Amino acid sequence: MKVTVIGCGYLGATHAACMAELGHEVLGIDVDPAKIASLSRGEVPFFEPGLSDVLRRNIDAGRLSFTTDYDEAAAHGSVHFLGVGTPQQQRGHGADLSQVHGAVDALTSRLRGEHLIVGKSTVPVGTAAELQRRIDATSARVDESGGTHIELAWNPEFLREGFAVDDTLSPDRIVLGTRPDNSRAAAVIAEVYREIFEAGVPYVRTDLPTAELVKVSANAFLATKISFINAVSEICEVVGGDISTLADAIGYDARIGRKFLNAGLGFGGGCLPKDIRAFVARADEVGAGQSLGFLREVDAVNMRRRTAMVDLVEKACGSSVLGANVAVLGAAFKPESDDVRDSPALNVAGQLSLRGARVTVFDPKAMDNARRLYPTLRFGESARDAAIDADVVVVATEWAEFVHMTPEELAPLVGRKVIVDGRRCLNAQAWEKAGWSYAAIGDRVEADFAPQMRSAGGVTSVPARRSAAAGMLV
Ligand code: UDX
Repeated sequence: MKVTVIGCGYLGATHAACMAELGHEVLGIDVDPAKIASLSRGEVPFFEPGLSDVLRRNIDAGRLSFTTDYDEAAAHGSVHFLGVGTPQQQRGHGADLSQVHGAVDALTSRLRGEHLIVGKSTVPVGTAAELQRRIDATSARVDESGGTHIELAWNPEFLREGFAVDDTLSPDRIVLGTRPDNSRAAAVIAEVYREIFEAGVPYVRTDLPTAELVKVSANAFLATKISFINAVSEICEVVGGDISTLADAIGYDARIGRKFLNAGLGFGGGCLPKDIRAFVARADEVGAGQSLGFLREVDAVNMRRRTAMVDLVEKACGSSVLGANVAVLGAAFKPESDDVRDSPALNVAGQLSLRGARVTVFDPKAMDNARRLYPTLRFGESARDAAIDADVVVVATEWAEFVHMTPEELAPLVGRKVIVDGRRCLNAQAWEKAGWSYAAIGDRVEADFAPQMRSAGGVTSVPARRSAAAGMLV
């Protein structure tokens, strides 16, 4: 089939490449010429494991190409996926739909005949119905003969960054929302995803508002799970108790499940935070704000974790981080991603810097994005480099290389053997046995758990820099 994918960000670029992988002839379109140039060369402009292989393979096979030209997109085929971004509004909590409107207007004003637009972006409930009215008005205006019919369906995407290819080609489920009795849209989708359906993936057919709500509800539920365990961890911080063991214990109950119960710095990224806010904003707009009031608390618990982490690092320095050297390991909002949008790790690094710490950040993949967002922070060349002379090492994103790092390899480099675990991902006993002061977010921590700083008032003298390779003074 000939398929276009509008918007070539995380979602669209992955969808385009994966649709080509299913054998379709795909044209990706985006308004950003740099993104299109990079994708056309077979280079993924962000880090997503496995995606560049799929991209290159399908470009080489002649099934996948990219353009900035809407005329080309309109002429390409009759199935158009919509995968543009719906970020949080600049001045509010609702979703900014300008990219959705821009893309739909640009495409529909050029379409003639029978077409299907399939929305994949995460949108507030009611958007699809409103877009269908917009589309009908545009096509009636541009084709007075009445021969143009553009149907809109909604097929939300549930892909996780870091697993985007697998989640697209082997999803947990496919959800399709259409207007009542729309068998044509369903037939087209059945053909587009034939291979996926043949593998037995569950298929939920429903109406437009349900399809829109499924996506935001799924993300709201996941966010609630994370904030639930983090709220309980706040209790553990006061009364003692091990939140990780608690999560294991309640997770054995199949009704609860262990996934998304990892306490720590909480959720970030381009989806969960903005989706719960947009959901609440939409509920307010339709007069049902009370129903989702708890999501404000989910958001508040989540944001509190970041401050709690900064306070914990402060404790690790005595009482103030002013002048302290802090190594922050991790900048991406989660491992296997270079995405720093609303990243808890970078937020903590930024807050520490604002409180006067000399922060050095290292992330295996997100350095360029982090530098762009926080140009005033210092950036190390490796975890070892960032740890040089550190008064505190902070693990903020649970990349495997940080989880597997040993206390022995860092010990000769740091100023003080103090480590703060923001993702509860390290082996506490191993670090303590090696003579480190270890503290994890979510644990009760004594105020004096770390040795005193070298000079009074929390301000350290600046020691000579050591060489990361040799652990020597230079
Ligand atoms: C999410 C949804 O999972 C996906 O289905 C949707 O399509 C897009 O939004 P993603 O943003 O890629 O995907 O990240 P996800 O893996 O869900 O993690 C979100 C955040 O929650 C990360 O910051 C992660 O570190 C945090 N998290 C996750 C926890 O703090 N604890 C957990 O137990 C799990």
